Amino acid sequence: MNNSMKIKTTTLIDMVAADEKIVGLTAWDYLFANYADASGAEIILVGDSLSMTIRGDKNTLGIDLEDMIYHTKMVSKGVRRALVVADMPFMSYQVSPEQALVSAGRFVKEANAEAVKIEGGSEMAKTAARIIGAGIPVMGHIGLKPQSVNQIGGMKVQGRSLKEAKAMIDDARALESAGVFALVLECVPAELSSIITESVEIPTIGIGAGLGCSGQIQVTADILGLLETESPKHAKKYLDVSAIIKTALHDYVGEVKTSIFPDESNTFEVAGEVMDAIRKKEF
Ligand code: KIV
Repeated sequence: MNNSMKIKTTTLIDMVAADEKIVGLTAWDYLFANYADASGAEIILVGDSLSMTIRGDKNTLGIDLEDMIYHTKMVSKGVRRALVVADMPFMSYQVSPEQALVSAGRFVKEANAEAVKIEGGSEMAKTAARIIGAGIPVMGHIGLKPQSVNQIGGMKVQGRSLKEAKAMIDDARALESAGVFALVLECVPAELSSIITESVEIPTIGIGAGLGCSGQIQVTADILGLLETESPKHAKKYLDVSAIIKTALHDYVGEVKTSIFPDESNTFEVAGEVMDAIRKKEF
């Protein structure tokens, strides 16, 4: 993959054909969008997980459309190469396909999103088709659907029973028929993800779904160790940023208290004669 080429939804389909893995990261502001874009990831998702990682909410249900548009605007400004996908928040698309289209349109018009993501299986196929029909690419999201946390009784691996596994394969096919350009598979047993990936032609992007997917996506805060809490099992901590931040801020506070900071290198001077005049009050 040419590293300076702008990623489009069709690029992802080409990558599947070329057996090249697709990589996704989440971002929530301009700063992290720049880092994520420079990493070489093809997808930058403004995930509603930011409600938990950045806002401190206990789940993703509280964040609204205005807030997601605000974050998407910032992320779009920081991305040049990757495909910017905005996560549609809870209750911005579930009411009707018309409501979903209006919400999706706002992400494109006001925040420069290039695609949107919705959670749900066959029951969301009509909604996805309505948005796609207006020219807005849609990414599906099945398996663990965090916006349904109250219905499923917690953030649990999905598709472990025969009935659930069959329903998930049907969901993937229904969403593909509706025209979604890719499918997030969250917390799905690896063998089932591989079967889903073989059952559809669109890319599957796994998070806690094993190696058999067409690509992987991770919540950036989890893999950087930005939070003090444990990262989820599906996330590998590539760095412990929270420890680095804590040490640095602790050192700063200590140096201010002991008059070590600021030193000469952080201090500005004025010409001697100006200072003399100030001291003599010659003004
Ligand atoms: O909101 C999010 O970060 C997501 C990922 C889990 C894919 O939807």
